[in-house]
Amino acid sequence: MLPTIAREDDVVVMVDQRKLPAQEVYVRCKTAAEVARAIKTMVIRGAPAIGVAAAMGIAIGMRKSGATGTQKFAAEFFKLCELMAATRPTAVNLFWAIERMKRVFAAAAQEGRSVDEIKEYLDRQAAAIHDEDVASCRAMGAFGAEVVPADARILTHCNAGALATAGYGTALGVIRGAVEAGKRVAVYADETRPFLQGARLTAWELVRDGIPTTVITDNMAGALMHQDRIDLVVVGADRIAANGDTANKIGTYSVAILAREHRIPFYVAAPLSTIDLKTPDGSHIPIEERDAREVTHMGGARLAPEGARVWNPAFDVTPAHLIAGIITERGIFRPPYLDSLKRAFEPQSSTQHPAPST
Ligand code: MRU
Repeated sequence: MLPTIAREDDVVVMVDQRKLPAQEVYVRCKTAAEVARAIKTMVIRGAPAIGVAAAMGIAIGMRKSGATGTQKFAAEFFKLCELMAATRPTAVNLFWAIERMKRVFAAAAQEGRSVDEIKEYLDRQAAAIHDEDVASCRAMGAFGAEVVPADARILTHCNAGALATAGYGTALGVIRGAVEAGKRVAVYADETRPFLQGARLTAWELVRDGIPTTVITDNMAGALMHQDRIDLVVVGADRIAANGDTANKIGTYSVAILAREHRIPFYVAAPLSTIDLKTPDGSHIPIEERDAREVTHMGGARLAPEGARVWNPAFDVTPAHLIAGIITERGIFRPPYLDSLKRAFEPQSSTQHPAPST
């Protein structure tokens, strides 16, 4: 499996996704501040991977704390949580992971645990967030494989693969799950301007897996669909609101509109950690705007003239009515999402198996 992110003692190691596929370079973050910077500058990106990185960053940051009393230790902990929360605003997995770390901290402090014991708990929680993410992606892959035709041409946008998660991927997890289930799959990867996650990262992952992959520029998807060459669209998500509205990489909305026009099923694959029931609908999802240089420049060379204004939102929102189903580790949830997504969080009894389609 691809080494997206790993812990080596008190160092967080991640493959530098800005440099792939030309170079496979590993960045070694020795402090929480270095991890925060890696998230902000997109050394690591993709909603679940960002959450894992933040948790690991907090864990190594607190490991290095010299505080002996819990009060000073707590002040440092909350500062690190704030540092991580300020990196990228859209992916809710980031805030979900920070909340999990906070809950562990609060419970340990309440029990009167020592600073060393709390450090240990934070380490374990970060490791659990990592491992659970891989397990969720695999479960998503198995559920999602059911909606993939035996012979399928699948369009995906951005990179929702092993690189965007702790491993295996969400949308690419569904593709991998379908291949493992014996289906014949060919993938069309949208280039994904301006950061080129599709052309650089999705294509890199799939080619390594031996899955037939064709890269297209974003403006080619409509022509492909019009020629009846796409059977299914699967994308990831950065935040899914309670009503099913989904924020994902800029351009996802256009793909969803095209899919609706051509009567092609459009699926979102995401773990429950991406579903934000506290956000009622897409209009409340904060959308990150990134540096103009990502649009005006390509590989260091200027494309647009000096003086041209730039709008560079990193994400857009696809309204729930365009989404055929949301594939999670607990099955596939269908409209109306206001009801079905709430059910996704209901506790499961040990004898009850998750329904594949809800
Ligand atoms: O800006 P990015 O590269 O972090 O955006 C990533 C996406 O939009 C992904 O589709 C999303 O995070 C899902 S990753 C499993």
